Amino acid sequence: MTNISKAGTFQLGDRTVKRLGYGAMQLAGPGVFGPPKDRAAAVAVLREAVASGVNHIDTSDYYGPHVTNQIIREALHPYSRDLVIVTKIGARRGKDGSWNVANSAEDLTSAVHDNLRNLGLDALDVVNLRFMFGAHGGPAEGSIEAPLAALVKLQGQGLVRHIGLSNATRKQIDDGRAIADIACVQNQYNLAHRDDDALIDTLAAEGIAYVPFFPLGGFTPLQSTALSDVAKSLGATPMQVALAWLLHRAPNILLIPGTSSVGHLRENLAAATLKLPSGKVGVLDQIASSTGVASHTAGADDDRGSVH
Ligand SMILES: NC(=O)c1ccc[n+]([C@@H]2O[C@H](COP(=O)([O-])OP(=O)(O)OC[C@H]3O[C@@H](n4cnc5c(N)ncnc54)[C@H](OP(=O)(O)O)[C@@H]3O)[C@@H](O)[C@H]2O)c1
Repeated sequence: MTNISKAGTFQLGDRTVKRLGYGAMQLAGPGVFGPPKDRAAAVAVLREAVASGVNHIDTSDYYGPHVTNQIIREALHPYSRDLVIVTKIGARRGKDGSWNVANSAEDLTSAVHDNLRNLGLDALDVVNLRFMFGAHGGPAEGSIEAPLAALVKLQGQGLVRHIGLSNATRKQIDDGRAIADIACVQNQYNLAHRDDDALIDTLAAEGIAYVPFFPLGGFTPLQSTALSDVAKSLGATPMQVALAWLLHRAPNILLIPGTSSVGHLRENLAAATLKLPSGKVGVLDQIASSTGVASHTAGADDDRGSVH
């Protein structure tokens, strides 16, 4: 079994977590809506992750909705003391599976209670406030004061231990830090999508965790000739190289690759021990500016304001 501790650790709120974690979004049904085809397989993925040493799981009660959190509870409750479950709020699913903004104080309060109930917790370790200001799914400016104040109130009631921001701009992070301690930022970032390069470096200097979503490219994983060539030369898979590149990219990056398969989970966790020679890093660094990459990421492309 891979020793995922080899990827190191980073601070997340008042806890130290391993840099290789797990994102649970893929455990819901197609379109992150409804139950999975094989619930027992979803439970097995979660148990394998924790048995392999993962102590950071990313989720949301709007995955399913409710389904993913209920599967996490079934698989892992009572939780081990070192497990940090990070959730996110700020959206609600429509009956048609749509992703709708839900960030009034009332919405956020009910979202926190939904997460507590479905995860079987008295307090949530970290709650990311997920913004949906961008017309095309990405971050965009807009005031975060009212929803963040509502979340701080829930934190004051002891229901939320730490606050993070998701799909946030640098300005929103600075505004947020004037209102609350911000434990982490969760934005889209991977080998091919590098809008946050400067942000990652400043957050690293500030000691704030950066958790890239779609680390493997999202619903259609990254495809690149350069990535495949590097992987082949190292005897690794392209997904392992994509994850190792993120681990190499900055010390504050925490990984939450998503998968519904135990085989892919094992493959991804093995990235912890993959060393990238500097020449290969140079090749990988060029991928974002090359034309050989396909990274379809529904969250960024869907102009109905989809959010995950
Ligand atoms: N804050 C936000 O707005 C936001 C948005 C999106 C996601 N997230 C979080 O970020 C986590 C990660 O994102 P994600 O799961 O959407 O995308 P991802 O980790 O980039 O990629 C997941 C996709 O890659 C496939 N995959 C995983 N490992 C693989 C492997 N070794 N070989 C081939 N294919 C592989 C998965 O399919 P299989 O199931 O077949 O393995 C799935 O289709 C989510 O689980 C969620 O917790 C947050």
